[in-house]
Amino acid sequence: MSNTPSSDTRSSDSLITTDVETGSNDRTAESRATAVATRDLNVYYGDEQAIDDVSMDIPENRVTALIGPSGCGKSTFLRCINRMNDMIEVCRVEGEVEFGGKNVYDADVDPVALRRRIGMVFQKPNPFPKSIRDNVAYGLKIQGFDGDVDERVEESLKGAALWDEVKDQLDSSGLDLSGGQQQRLCIARAIAPDPEVILMDEPTSALDPVAASKIEDLIDDLAEEYTVIIVTHNMQQAARISDRTAVFLTGGRLVEYDDTAKIFEDPEEQRVEDYITGKFG
Ligand SMILES: Nc1ncnc2c1ncn2[C@@H]1O[C@H](COP(=O)(O)OP(=O)(O)OP(=O)(O)O)[C@@H](O)[C@H]1O
Ligand SMILES: [Mg+2]
Repeated sequence: MSNTPSSDTRSSDSLITTDVETGSNDRTAESRATAVATRDLNVYYGDEQAIDDVSMDIPENRVTALIGPSGCGKSTFLRCINRMNDMIEVCRVEGEVEFGGKNVYDADVDPVALRRRIGMVFQKPNPFPKSIRDNVAYGLKIQGFDGDVDERVEESLKGAALWDEVKDQLDSSGLDLSGGQQQRLCIARAIAPDPEVILMDEPTSALDPVAASKIEDLIDDLAEEYTVIIVTHNMQQAARISDRTAVFLTGGRLVEYDDTAKIFEDPEEQRVEDYITGKFG
């Protein structure tokens, strides 16, 4: 098969082997303002290049999925956005990440303040060994929040679809919750400081299907208020919950980035179709 199959070829075997359903919502990414943009982003760990010249506009109040095989640079890309890569000594970033009218790598950007506006949720739920209330209030304390903390804790737990399950046990440890509840607690912690963007790195891959499905529903709701950028290995999940999908392939190259329905139903690149249909990766 050639690199650019004809539409005839496409109609006979397009996506096709995976029974993905796209479009769980009626949002479109058209004409949205850009929340985060990368310009000629290159990232290296020592001599090894992990992201290769990626320029990408990520729309606000939409869910953007980053997919691609293991080691293609998805986590690296995500961590560039709120400068979590700063913590990795051998990591070097070139190019720009525009957010809030600035390049986040400008010398006068405070990474702590940046991470308040761009929160993050990790693969493995990582609540602190503290009470549920203190987990959620954690970021508020750091930012010197002077509003009503209990009210904000409640709002955040409601926003993370966890309030009803924990409202009578706010003083018990976050670690006593189930895995799925812990992940929603981490989401509550991430939204408490009222960020604009939430980065999620495989947030459901450590969860059972029921807990994962709750988080998926939650992500859909979160996009009403936040820009969500999510890494996932689960094609069905990307297809279900995202509005835009970026496909990275080996070497940290962004090979295709488009509306999710387009990527899953009629991708331009044969390599993308092969990846999505499980021919490699
Ligand atoms: N802290 C690090 N130090 C050195 N190299 C790293 C580090 N983190 C990632 N890399 C390398 O950068 C490349 C991209 O890694 P990254 O973790 O971003 O990929 P990924 O797409 O998130 O993979 P996965 O799907 O397995 O999570 C890989 O070659 C990896 O070995
Ligand atoms: Mg990763």
